[in-house]
Amino acid sequence: MKIKLKNSKQFTNNTVYMMFETEKMIDVKLGQFVNISIPGDEFTLRRPFSIVSAGKNKFSVLIKVIGNGTQKITNMKIGESIDALIPLGQPFDKTIDYKKTLFIAGGIGIAGILRFIENQNAQFLFGDINGEYKDIMDYLKIEPTYINESGKTGKKGFVTDYINDFEFNTIIACGPKGMLKSIKEKTDKHIDFYAICEEIIACGLGLCGGCAIKYDDGSFGKVCVDGPVLNGRRINYD
Ligand SMILES: Cc1cc2nc3c(=O)[nH]c(=O)nc-3n(C[C@H](O)[C@H](O)[C@H](O)COP(=O)(O)OP(=O)(O)OC[C@H]3O[C@@H](n4cnc5c(N)ncnc54)[C@H](O)[C@@H]3O)c2cc1C
Ligand code: FES
Repeated sequence: MKIKLKNSKQFTNNTVYMMFETEKMIDVKLGQFVNISIPGDEFTLRRPFSIVSAGKNKFSVLIKVIGNGTQKITNMKIGESIDALIPLGQPFDKTIDYKKTLFIAGGIGIAGILRFIENQNAQFLFGDINGEYKDIMDYLKIEPTYINESGKTGKKGFVTDYINDFEFNTIIACGPKGMLKSIKEKTDKHIDFYAICEEIIACGLGLCGGCAIKYDDGSFGKVCVDGPVLNGRRINYD
């Protein structure tokens, strides 16, 4: 369907918050994502993004510019329209006990977590390199336990150094593969661990196998239709 850009705000670390209006009503469940066409390049693959908030005819995304697609999408002007597939992916339908759940994000992985913690008193552990997400946190009025590799605006180190400061029986995390792997290794196997996976997506519809993710038992899952929220303890991150 067509989506129209209503609002856009650029942050210092080349990350852009974009709010779109949809031409048709949408019903976006927790954990689902959107696949957006590239302006001027509509015959190439769409690009997938987590939905950070959604209403009946609007939704927003937080996009980190890393290549041609994200550059062209974030360059869109207010009022410009583009094609998108929304919603995609398997809804996360487990009941969340917020007192017993630890949310962890690294860098732009924050986009995958935002909708889970919206209006909740959630335990949220966030890590970046040098405090480059501070202005985004302030804009979104989020106060995570903030960790930086440099220690510039938060506690120094990696998020995984601080996991044991919290009480939880479930982890929901989004971020680089190395972070997800480290969470798997550093936590007890009885802790439920859900990983929000950001593999490269092609069709987004379960047809091409382009988003396959390997499990420890040698089987494969498809991020676009089985995920993007998958059992993080089963995934082979190597
Ligand atoms: C379900 C899902 C949700 C996502 N949510 C967000 C989000 O909310 N915000 C956000 O900024 N990004 C998100 N991503 C990642 C985003 O889709 C990619 O950054 C984007 O597709 C890159 O497009 P590009 O044309 O700019 O980069 P390209 O020019 O295609 O690639 C640039 C470089 O980045 C690598 N790359 C491309 N896609 C990915 C990827 N998915 N993961 C890791 N490396 C990649 C390429 O191999 C290449 O080295 C998500 C991905 C998935 C699968
Ligand atoms: S992207 Fe085609 S099967 Fe998942």
